[in-house]
Amino acid sequence: MNKIKLNNGLSLPQLGFGTYKITDEEILDKLLPKAVDLGYGLLDTASYYNNERAIGDCICRHTLFGKLKVCTKIWPKDYGRDQTLYSIEKSMKNLRLDKLEGLFLHWPSEDFEESWKALEEVYEEGLCNFIAVSNFHKQHLEKLFVHANIKPAIDQLETHPLLQQKDMKEYLSQHNIQLEAWSPLARSVEKLTDTAVIEEIASKYHKSPQQIVIRWHIEEGNILIPKTSKLERLEENKEVFDFSLSREDHNKIAKLDSGIRVSQDPEDENWLKEIREK
Ligand SMILES: NC(=O)c1ccc[n+]([C@@H]2O[C@H](COP(=O)([O-])OP(=O)(O)OC[C@H]3O[C@@H](n4cnc5c(N)ncnc54)[C@H](OP(=O)(O)O)[C@@H]3O)[C@@H](O)[C@H]2O)c1
Repeated sequence: MNKIKLNNGLSLPQLGFGTYKITDEEILDKLLPKAVDLGYGLLDTASYYNNERAIGDCICRHTLFGKLKVCTKIWPKDYGRDQTLYSIEKSMKNLRLDKLEGLFLHWPSEDFEESWKALEEVYEEGLCNFIAVSNFHKQHLEKLFVHANIKPAIDQLETHPLLQQKDMKEYLSQHNIQLEAWSPLARSVEKLTDTAVIEEIASKYHKSPQQIVIRWHIEEGNILIPKTSKLERLEENKEVFDFSLSREDHNKIAKLDSGIRVSQDPEDENWLKEIREK
């Protein structure tokens, strides 16, 4: 499994898996041990996903301690120093872990500076291996840098061939912050996987459109966390290390960048206010 070095010297597997909307314990019970068997080492969750307890139970049942690097996120309703510390404590209890891999601020809503301080405290105490942000654009990071003692190791952003985040990637690389792609498959919407370009490349390599998109992320240097609730797709999504895309393939995929999102935009102030309440 390819690894990516973060700005604090720690290395993370480049390909992990996401768990948004997987709350069914029976599914997690099959998925997690299979992921470990297949060599996935990185799991992405969030307090918002309502599955931390189910994940923690599976980790216990299958004794997966130390076999999965678990990252979670703090939801904006829990921003502010004390609430953030409480949210982290709750997540760790639910996940049955006494150390997390990474802790993320989920969105750049009001009071994120106070929450970042709480993350710094928890990191200094050694309760996680890195601290990070999600959905932070340049203006949010500039605001965070004013009072931060520690720079985020990662910025998790919606990233896929329809939204390639070229400007943010350049900015993040100037600040030595790694991009991690959420919705890396653009949720497998037809707009992406049925584009003639991806299909044509897929048939050339005898791969699925999703495998082409995953390979593209790998070669772009993104960490990525595709989600699937199906065991066979978990396996399929990892079979991407036996071929490489050509320069011509990359040029064709570069032209798909059209700014199309499958979810909320961090520039949407109403959304950022709304999630501070819910
Ligand atoms: N930081 C944030 O704000 C944020 C926001 C959204 C997501 N995330 C994280 O990013 C992870 C991934 O994003 P996502 O879940 O939104 O979308 P995604 O990974 O881009 O796409 C998931 C969809 O693709 C399907 N799929 C997966 N592999 C496939 C394959 N090989 N062939 C065909 N279909 C396939 C899945 O269906 P099946 O399950 O039926 O296979 C699911 O419908 C999340 O789970 C979460 O951990 C973070």
